[in-house]
Amino acid sequence: MNQPRPVATASVSIMDVIRTYQHPSGPVDVLRGVRLNIDSGELVTLSGRSGSGKSALLAMLSGFDSPDAGTIHVDGQPIVEPPHWARCAVLPQTFGLATELTVAENVALPLRLGDSAPSPAALSARVNELLAELGIDTLTSRYPPEISFGQQQRVALARAVAARPRVLLADEPTAHLDNASMPPVLRMLRQCADEGAAVLVATHDQHVHEIADRQVQLRDGVIVTPTEDP
Ligand SMILES: Nc1ncnc2c1ncn2[C@@H]1O[C@H](COP(=O)(O)OP(=O)(O)OP(=O)(O)O)[C@@H](O)[C@H]1O
Ligand SMILES: [Mg+2]
Repeated sequence: MNQPRPVATASVSIMDVIRTYQHPSGPVDVLRGVRLNIDSGELVTLSGRSGSGKSALLAMLSGFDSPDAGTIHVDGQPIVEPPHWARCAVLPQTFGLATELTVAENVALPLRLGDSAPSPAALSARVNELLAELGIDTLTSRYPPEISFGQQQRVALARAVAARPRVLLADEPTAHLDNASMPPVLRMLRQCADEGAAVLVATHDQHVHEIADRQVQLRDGVIVTPTEDP
């Protein structure tokens, strides 16, 4: 007897998402029916003009905002509140580091808050491994205001991948990087997808597009295939 074949489910499934922001000057229709699926193991870049809604869409995927209509599933679950970082981790455009914690403590946070926190030795090994890969292992005991924007951006990436999330959302993760600090960041994003995560990166950066499996663009509130004229 034939066994039923398992149905392949996308790790990120966005269906007909609509979001309008109310402003004193009138409503702004930012997302007008966004549809996008991202499979496990896939790295997708999301481009679009400044103000096109890239960060707004990521805010909905990470549970910090809700659509007015439409559905969002992350790792098979509808988003009702911010999911645990082992399921869905975010590198926000403004980094979102805790200023009262050191660099090492920021990166360790998702591991400490997980269901099965690693031993102190394993936790510190993971934190040091990530910071070394990103070339910022000399900064472990500094606080975020004591390091540069490019360094803060890499700390936020290390924190996002620390718990090996099933879904990674990264908002302009290379915006503050120079040529020397770019390759390890690109490697880490790609590795995250190669290890099975669904990765969505909002970016204007050609270097990131080059490591993507697929590129999409937000234009007039919907997802389109990118063209030469963004
Ligand atoms: N919470 C909010 N309340 C009101 N308006 C918002 C809110 N979030 C975003 N917007 C508006 O929605 C639009 C999309 O903003 P968003 O930050 O998503 O753009 P973006 O594509 O990420 O731009 P950038 O490339 O500059 O980061 C903008 O017009 C912005 O002013
Ligand atoms: Mg943005």
